[in-house]
Amino acid sequence: MGLFLLGLAAGLLIIVPAACFIARRAVCRTKNAQGAKRDSERLRALGRLAGGLVHEIKNPLGTMVLNLGLLREDWSKPRDVKEKRALSRVEIIEKEAKRLEQILDDFLAYVKGKKPELQEHQVAEVIDEVLDFFGPQARAKKIEVRTNYAPHLPKCLIDRDLFKQALINLLRNSQEAMPQGGELMIRAARSNKALRIDITDTGEGITPENLGKIFDAYYSSKKAGTGLGLATTRRIIEDHGGTISVQSQPGKGTNFTISLPGKD
Ligand SMILES: Nc1ncnc2c1ncn2[C@@H]1O[C@H](COP(=O)(O)OP(=O)(O)O)[C@@H](O)[C@H]1O
Ligand SMILES: [Mg+2]
Repeated sequence: MGLFLLGLAAGLLIIVPAACFIARRAVCRTKNAQGAKRDSERLRALGRLAGGLVHEIKNPLGTMVLNLGLLREDWSKPRDVKEKRALSRVEIIEKEAKRLEQILDDFLAYVKGKKPELQEHQVAEVIDEVLDFFGPQARAKKIEVRTNYAPHLPKCLIDRDLFKQALINLLRNSQEAMPQGGELMIRAARSNKALRIDITDTGEGITPENLGKIFDAYYSSKKAGTGLGLATTRRIIEDHGGTISVQSQPGKGTNFTISLPGKD
């Protein structure tokens, strides 16, 4: 049973990256052919195809992660060196399988290209909802999370779930940029008719030569990064008729500015 699972997991560890690589190449080719102009319709069609494949892979992968977890628990008290070695291998495969799940989830979020279902919202309330669950985990990592919302903010037409996803990608990056802890500030203010949101961290910052690459799909400076977070965030914000920009100082921190069209 153990050996069978290990073999199955090992096979998957080869198949999934290969499938992702092919899908990724397809996305990159589309991007080059289009030049700077993004053809979201074509990307959507490609997304549907790749998304189908990724879903097919996700189901058996989920079963595997579950069973690897059970196997790890069964072997949690190794009786000899051989069992200890087996346990450590199961742990490695489980970790890598979970990473594959993350890669597939990020890929799906990027290619899905779901059209926003817009509803009028007070965006500060949506930010607070995200912070309700993000805040505690950030504080546990010695990150002080603060907000500052100006009065009389304009309401905006947003797809709540998509906007939350865009925000979470930014917050996660800030958290990852402050491994020793730091400060995360989220401000919202009116800028003419638009809503301006600033997300500022005191993390490691981004060098000027990397600053131009961070929104590119698959650009990542992290060992285990997928490089799809900011590409997804930008697509979501632009699908809302908004913009996102960045300023950063290496060693000091980074500030992302989102501008969303206001409703009133
Ligand atoms: N707040 C931040 N501070 C420092 N670097 C950042 C920040 N946000 C993004 N980056 C840089 O942009 C890259 C791309 O981010 P992203 O698209 O989310 O991919 P990933 O997080 O998987 O690397 C990161 O690898 C990192 O180099
Ligand atoms: Mg990220």
